[in-house]
Amino acid sequence: MPDIQTAFATETFGNRYLEPASRSAELYARARAVMPGGNTRTTVFAAPYPAYMASAQGQSRLDFVNNYTALIHGHAHPRIVEAVAKQLVVGTAISFPTESEVRLAELLVDRVDSIERVRFTKSGTEAVMMAIQAARAFTGRPRIAKFEGCYHGTYDYAEISVGPPLDLVGDPEAPRSVAESVGVAPSAVDEVLVLPFNDADAAERLIARHANELAAVLVDPLPHRSGFLDPADGFLSRLRQITREHDILLISDEIISFRLDYRGAQRRFGYDADLTTLAKIIGGGFPVGAFGGRADVMSVFDPTSSGTRIAHGGTFNANPVTMVAGYEAMAMMTPAEYDRLATLGQRVRVGLADLIEARGVSWQVGGQASLFKLHPHPRPLVNYRSASPTRAEQADIERFYLAMLGQGIVLTPDLAGALSTPMTEREIDSLIHAADRVFDVL
Ligand SMILES: Cc1ncc(COP(=O)(O)O)c(C=O)c1O
Repeated sequence: MPDIQTAFATETFGNRYLEPASRSAELYARARAVMPGGNTRTTVFAAPYPAYMASAQGQSRLDFVNNYTALIHGHAHPRIVEAVAKQLVVGTAISFPTESEVRLAELLVDRVDSIERVRFTKSGTEAVMMAIQAARAFTGRPRIAKFEGCYHGTYDYAEISVGPPLDLVGDPEAPRSVAESVGVAPSAVDEVLVLPFNDADAAERLIARHANELAAVLVDPLPHRSGFLDPADGFLSRLRQITREHDILLISDEIISFRLDYRGAQRRFGYDADLTTLAKIIGGGFPVGAFGGRADVMSVFDPTSSGTRIAHGGTFNANPVTMVAGYEAMAMMTPAEYDRLATLGQRVRVGLADLIEARGVSWQVGGQASLFKLHPHPRPLVNYRSASPTRAEQADIERFYLAMLGQGIVLTPDLAGALSTPMTEREIDSLIHAADRVFDVL
């Protein structure tokens, strides 16, 4: 069999960027000389090297990644471009607060039932970091708990048991705390209690055992790192109940799952959190993060209060370019638009599932609303361990990714996708048609 690069550089797959004389090959060679492995964002690396893009306009490719779910209106939506262009000429970052941050904060507080007060950051990573710090300050306790197989950004206390090797994970009912990589603070390994997703009984036992040390339980309600796992019925509300019984704060990380509902994942799954973290879609395509929740918890940041205070700076926090872009993006996301995207998402999932069934391959599709992901195996999508691909399945994923890219369909290298509002049934049907051809060839 030819190596993957040679196989997918062919005309059949249209991946001209893999040819040795391509512009991407040249840029990658230059990048390798100045950045480690040519890379400054691990997420966008795809073997053997990524395609470089000059523009998101006039492409013959359909982008189902949308900057890892962030671009809910696709690229360069005219209403966002106009708002940003106006802001660019009056100031991109001002050493004073602006009305733009108040407007976006009002919108978020209005939409998410459990958010009474909110603050902005430049990334989801920072939003999670600050929510954890707030929980420690408010409760006076040091540790946090998170679920195995869940990604919450690149911060030591979040980088525990995100994608641990299956031979290191330990007891399914009491998972080991595993650093995501070398370089993660060893103290983080000790301070993070790892819980099994979708096993409320085991989670309850672990939380109860460590309750007096735990400031917060951090949960991604639709864990994307494990492949958009559906939370079991009642799992999240039970988690809410357990944490409340022990006065532990519940942090709902909706950095991706804010796509699920006009009022967020908590409304969709029927629970409420003490703190919520947001990012991606709320920035309209610009760097953003936000965390918010109960007014009493958030008051640890109140500079006018004499109580516990956390100084939370950030040169570009709430910068008006992000704030105006985010406001336009969210204002356009009406309940009807959420419904329309969810219907399109269902068309993707059903279309792919039908293909899989017709071809008799052992694949399946997960996801909800505007999110979807292909899994190259038939195991139940219950937790990280059951959903993780084997080495052979990982090779299938890589081949499928490159083959789809060659057909002009951009998925994430682990075969997830997120829809955007400019999409219609036509784009969805192109995706399904391309997947059909790829199943045929592979
Ligand atoms: C659930 C979740 N939390 C946190 C993050 C980190 O956000 P950012 O990349 O903006 O730092 C991500 C990013 O993908 C995420 O999906």
